[in-house]
Amino acid sequence: MQQLIVVRDLKGCTPMEKDKMADRKEEFTLTGIGIQILEAFDKTESEVITIMSQFMLACSIFVFLALYMLKAPYGRYANTKVYGFGIHGKVAWFLQELPSLMIPVYLAVFTDSSGSSKVGRVLIAVFLVHYFQRTFIFPFLLRGGKVTPVVPFILALVFCCYNGFMQGAYLLHVSTYQDWWFSDPRFVIGIALFFLGLVINIHSDSVLRNLRKPGETGYKIPEGGLFNYVSGANFFGEIVEWMGFAIACWSLPAVSFCIFSTCNIGQRAMHHHEWYLQKFDDYPKNRKALIPFLF
Ligand SMILES: NC(=O)c1ccc[n+]([C@@H]2O[C@H](COP(=O)([O-])OP(=O)(O)OC[C@H]3O[C@@H](n4cnc5c(N)ncnc54)[C@H](OP(=O)(O)O)[C@@H]3O)[C@@H](O)[C@H]2O)c1
Repeated sequence: MQQLIVVRDLKGCTPMEKDKMADRKEEFTLTGIGIQILEAFDKTESEVITIMSQFMLACSIFVFLALYMLKAPYGRYANTKVYGFGIHGKVAWFLQELPSLMIPVYLAVFTDSSGSSKVGRVLIAVFLVHYFQRTFIFPFLLRGGKVTPVVPFILALVFCCYNGFMQGAYLLHVSTYQDWWFSDPRFVIGIALFFLGLVINIHSDSVLRNLRKPGETGYKIPEGGLFNYVSGANFFGEIVEWMGFAIACWSLPAVSFCIFSTCNIGQRAMHHHEWYLQKFDDYPKNRKALIPFLF
């Protein structure tokens, strides 16, 4: 199998630090497409991940502005005339989210991640907890979900490939966390926030699901949990999750992902809030769109 040894980015290191890194064998190998990308751009993996993160930040601005003009066209806003043929909701969710799970697993199993830190491995495991739920549980519990037009399906698929690689490669190949990070307040608070957000997200998605009896496809006013305060409780939970992840990782790739998700699903919460106010005369007037009591 073709392999390329890529030495970690040693720019800015003192000679002693370089020696230490060499002692710890902080080298890693990539195969296949990873080699081609690095060779094409003559970059270290670390540099590639930084560029990818910066590009995701730039895309966040674009997504934020674009979603001012149009609503993400899936679910209640699905439009198969404009955005292509519809894919069954369960199938679309399963396929589009799968790369976020499988690409980090591929990197862990089929590339040399022996130089990764314990912290990096725990953080990628945390990321995979979310995507295991999103890929293997969430889609199969959906009730009466709409079809997903092919355009938003492909966009979500590309995003999950891109982000799965970016987070996985950073945590398994590039990052150099030491064990003391486990007791750093940023790691502890970040992980606590991640799991708090995960619980809110899963609970809120289950509230929405249970609004429908089997076979129903219509919409009702969600009640209970964080829905008593905001229209986008599931989105709020997910944003808290990725905020916690970004704090725990304290890295550019995780911050970029958090900002991108906030721009994307924050706007979706706004759209749903306006939609509820228009559709239901008795919609609770004190309920906010995304952030309890504030916004
Ligand atoms: N990280 C990211 O960038 C990102 C991006 C997108 C989504 N997500 C996550 O993926 C999950 C689903 O997102 P989504 O945009 O599909 O959420 P959503 O629009 O709230 O819909 C979720 C499910 O609940 C149903 N539903 C929603 N409101 C309902 C109501 N009032 N009455 C009855 N059923 C209702 C929907 O049915 P219909 O399909 O029929 O509308 C759909 O099956 C969320 O947890 C979200 O945080 C994450």
